[in-house]
Amino acid sequence: QFPDTVRIVEVGPRDGLQNERAHVPTAAKIELIDRLSATGLKTIEATSFVSPKWIPQLADAAEVYAGIGRRPGVAYPVLVPNETGYDRARAVGVEEIAVFTAASEAFNRRNINASIDESLQRFAPVLARACADGVRVRGYVSTVLGCPYQGEVPLADVVRVAQALYDMGCYEISLGDTIGVGTPLKARAMLRAVAAAMPVGALAIHFHDTYGQALANILACLEEGVAVVDAAVAGTGGCPYARGASGNVASEDVVYMLHGMGIDTGIDLQALSETGRWLAALLGVETGSRFGRATAPA
Ligand code: HMG
Ligand code: MG
Repeated sequence: QFPDTVRIVEVGPRDGLQNERAHVPTAAKIELIDRLSATGLKTIEATSFVSPKWIPQLADAAEVYAGIGRRPGVAYPVLVPNETGYDRARAVGVEEIAVFTAASEAFNRRNINASIDESLQRFAPVLARACADGVRVRGYVSTVLGCPYQGEVPLADVVRVAQALYDMGCYEISLGDTIGVGTPLKARAMLRAVAAAMPVGALAIHFHDTYGQALANILACLEEGVAVVDAAVAGTGGCPYARGASGNVASEDVVYMLHGMGIDTGIDLQALSETGRWLAALLGVETGSRFGRATAPA
């Protein structure tokens, strides 16, 4: 009952870099995206048009987006929190965006300085304009398996927020375990609850690997029919407004697992892994990918 093919949404250039302490030059961000574009990935989240006061690491979003070589057939969504971000993104020709909110009030207040309902109200004009402009919109729900401030997050809250984003016109809802606290049976229950309210084909999963549970949780959700998985090359990532958040599940490790199960991704794992090695060296860190460590040249 596993899907035959899975689309990986590579979030390294955005989620991976937004929390980095090291200064990453604009040219290196562009090179990262261009390298990823050559691996067979179909979706690469490129950057964020958020407030540079909140996320200084991505203040060069416009320069990065304008500098990348956009491959036909590859989507390059960017995060947009409000109409200001939408204007900035459209000024450089962005064709796909992602709006983001959470299932927990406490996290949203810290991350985007708004309640859940205020955030949805902010997105309404963004979605209306995107629809008129032919811009595709993805929607994120954070803290679907736990919140760093509130703890447990009721499933009903996850379903309500996911449904609201879907009803507003998001073509895909990405369910985020922002702090990686979920375990497989909880991930499955969460997925089932959301899939009861909207088509499973419109769902993606976005799991941080803080507690080492991400691959197990992904497997549990694949069994439920999910066929879109967010991941970050070299296991980079984390949200600065989520206490205790660490890296996303590594793209290399997800692709290794999927290919080992006979599931097609269209991705050249060697090329992806080389990009992960290159990125880890650039950041001066050990790769967060277990595949990358296991296959590192001696
Ligand atoms: P605010 O301070 O409440 O905003 O921030 P404001 O509307 O009051 O504006 C304040 C100032 O910011 C103004 O400038 C605005 O023009 C400017 P001033 O008049 O003071 O000079 N401003 C902007 N500038 C550039 N681009 C913009 C923009 N908007 C306002 N788009 C806001 C509210 C939402 C803007 C802020 O809280 C923000 O940018 N937050 C982003 C936080 C963020 O990016 N977090 C990480 C991404 S979410 C994540 O990682 C989770 C995810 O991976 C899934 C998961 O793991 O669960 C997606
Ligand atoms: Mg994330």
